Amino acid sequence: MDNTNIFELAKDLLQQVEEFATNNTAELEKFRIAYLGSNGKVKQLFEQFKSVPNERKKEFGQIANQVKQTAEAKIEQIKTQLETATDTPTDIPDLTAPALTQPLGSRHPVSLFLRRAIDVFRGMGFAVVADREIEDDWHNFTALNTPDDHPSRDMQDTFYIQTNPAVLLRTHTSPVQARHMEKNQPPIRIVAPGRVYRNETVSARSHCQFHQIEGLYVGENVSLADLKQTLLVFARQMFSKDVEICLRPSFFPFTEPSLEADVTCFICQAKGCPVCKYSGWVEILGAGMVDPNVLENCGIDSKKYTGFAFGMGIERTTMQLYGIKDIRLLFENDVRFLRQFSGGL
Ligand code: DAH
Repeated sequence: MDNTNIFELAKDLLQQVEEFATNNTAELEKFRIAYLGSNGKVKQLFEQFKSVPNERKKEFGQIANQVKQTAEAKIEQIKTQLETATDTPTDIPDLTAPALTQPLGSRHPVSLFLRRAIDVFRGMGFAVVADREIEDDWHNFTALNTPDDHPSRDMQDTFYIQTNPAVLLRTHTSPVQARHMEKNQPPIRIVAPGRVYRNETVSARSHCQFHQIEGLYVGENVSLADLKQTLLVFARQMFSKDVEICLRPSFFPFTEPSLEADVTCFICQAKGCPVCKYSGWVEILGAGMVDPNVLENCGIDSKKYTGFAFGMGIERTTMQLYGIKDIRLLFENDVRFLRQFSGGL
């Protein structure tokens, strides 16, 4: 064998030793015998020493020693690895382990509130109606007896998609009343939940989008007493069985008379707390007897029929119920926030 070949052989052996791997004790022993045994490859390598010319003996000695030491170190390393490995094969799944639980989603607090409110109204015989969010001027304003110069038509409140003829994002759910009366004759008993839009600066207390639930009851001899009883039953089923309601005179273009309804504070049971601002009362909705002009605008005989209507904002009451301080949380859909409502309402 010439000199170059001896060096090649030594380097080859070094590479073989470095690359050797096993997780089996018998194979490791075979490797030990093959390389470090009394007639092993390392011994044979050292035997070549005498044929190396003097000037390269030092270099050869270093490589040969490196092969030997690497082989010894490799054997030690694999041995400890095999000793510390457990007897249990790791690639077989543990069939007795409990199954991973699949986290359940939770309903959004606004949905929880709406579903519950709808349930209560359904129980009183109201049907659920949905309609468009993009409206025209007639249904959002004019049919609802809202004169041309009414402040709620102001560009500041309404998002107009187009001005002539006006196409806009509905500012309340009341247009669903108008659309439903145009297509149906009394008796009418509906609630209409949905999203509404107003051009308001977004802050902790107000948002440019929110939800309302609209109610409408039209029939013969429908009176303010019916409205009062409906709201009382709703409040008691929705919040708690001993809440009281308070009706205060108010104004809306589409109702006459108009009122706003408060309930006794469901947080402090009317003892006084920051939610009710220590008044004991929380405002929940606007309502009234449907203005005869609105009935006529929608094709209903106002001499024969009367009706009541109400409109309730969802976000504010939901926030009060849950102690949510910032309305923006309701629109960001941060799962860390939403997860807290998995218990339901
Ligand atoms: N549409 C009103 C609003 O957005 C709420 C409302 C008040 C609706 C009285 C009604 C009602 O149906 O009768 O503020």
